Amino acid sequence: MSGTCVIGLQWGDEAKGKLVDLLAPQFDLVVRYQGGANAGHTVVAGDEVYKLHHIPSGILHPEVQNLITPGVVINPTTMLDEINGLAKRGVICQDNLRISERAHLVMPWHMAEDKFINATVVRGESIGTTNRGIGPCYRDKVGRTHAIRMTDLVQSTRDERIGIVAEQKVTLLGNMGAPQEDLDEIAPDKIVALAASWADQLHGMIGDTTDFLLDACEADKRILFEGAQGALLDIDHGTFPFVTSSNSSGVGVCAGAGVPPRWINQVLGVCKAYSTRVGGGPFPTELEDETGDRIRKLGNEFGTTTGRPRRCGWFDAVAVRYTARLSGVTRLALMMMDVLSHLDELKVCVAYELDGERIERLPSHADQIRRCLPIYETIPGWKQPVDDVRSVDEFPAGALAYVKRIEELVGIPVGVLSVGPDRAQTVFTDAAAELSLQPLGPQ
Ligand code: GDP
Ligand code: IMO
Ligand code: MG
Repeated sequence: MSGTCVIGLQWGDEAKGKLVDLLAPQFDLVVRYQGGANAGHTVVAGDEVYKLHHIPSGILHPEVQNLITPGVVINPTTMLDEINGLAKRGVICQDNLRISERAHLVMPWHMAEDKFINATVVRGESIGTTNRGIGPCYRDKVGRTHAIRMTDLVQSTRDERIGIVAEQKVTLLGNMGAPQEDLDEIAPDKIVALAASWADQLHGMIGDTTDFLLDACEADKRILFEGAQGALLDIDHGTFPFVTSSNSSGVGVCAGAGVPPRWINQVLGVCKAYSTRVGGGPFPTELEDETGDRIRKLGNEFGTTTGRPRRCGWFDAVAVRYTARLSGVTRLALMMMDVLSHLDELKVCVAYELDGERIERLPSHADQIRRCLPIYETIPGWKQPVDDVRSVDEFPAGALAYVKRIEELVGIPVGVLSVGPDRAQTVFTDAAAELSLQPLGPQ
């Protein structure tokens, strides 16, 4: 059996969706295990561009079974929009998508509560969430008393249970000063009717995924776990409190999916050849200058979920070494190499200066990270387009020197290089063979 994970090593949007779609045909199952519609994973298939939020990025391959497991939080309205949008384009999720009955629901009150999170200044700035109700839903999951799960939709107690929670939420949000229009949205009658319509539309896809996945492991199936967000946004290990509310690093796979660690043997750590971040929080290598603007433009760095401009900066080898170790990464995938082709000179952060001292680890406190001054190594740009490169030996020497330096600094070999959004714009190095991933034939 091979359990392979695709994990983002920065602050999200590392192009996990592209890789998962590309690798999916080599697997029997693709599994989303944390996060929710805060994720925006782009898959480019020929002229078609798919932006997936809830649905695993293996969905374009009818022979691959896609699972949404207990650790994911689901907004049924946006999930149904996504399923219906895909159906209009000929992708029928009902055939190969199974949703865990244990997954928690993002309810309309969670969306209203997320506005309060974003209106709160924490350590000098707003978290800048995706406004998808993610934090409030996970908060209710851990709190238990107001949580609603997929399985509640298909129980005879559904209307009663949801009605009671809705009433309590109207009171709670009213006391918090929520505007009347938000309270109207969560009126108990309205929510009970909404839940009934969700159940009608989703019941065929809701079921057990935990035994299903364990059976697959024991039957020697090949399983690809699709991380959402990036490890620096991990609730326990990221740049807290400027993080998401789930374990988005490699350590989250087991708990979210419901698989013991023994079934995981490969971890592909995905990073951009530079860094981006969307939302608030410290970002030591951020470029608030013309070079940052250029990278944003060249890389089309605007959020897949919210459309917000992404903050751009140089590759941070200190942060990626940390997240790669934490996630158990066996190979790196270095994406967006084409974007750097246009720059005269590149910088890589090899250490930080914190309060006058050189350090080579990411501090734990957001205020300390904010005070970190990057110590850079400068590497000449290669100034040659690489979009059409299809094998390692076609890369300019300067590009390979950049890759080699990143491998040395992070301490892990690069198995995949990406030179554009298209499936074909991907190069597998010799190190990929050890990962048991093969380059695919012409797309
Ligand atoms: P994800 O959330 O990790 O799946 O990443 P997103 O889909 O949010 O953002 C990655 C963006 O980069 C998408 O628009 C991809 O189509 C695009 N992309 C993927 N790989 C490459 C690449 O190598 N070069 C360029 N220029 N774009 C890429
Ligand atoms: P994918 O899977 C980039 C960021 C938000 C915010 C913080 C908390 O596409 O890589 P949340 O809504 O989760 O409470 O927001 O996390 N964030 C992401 N940034 N890519 C994502 O997902 C993200 N999901 C959340 O911008 O800073
Ligand atoms: Mg994204």
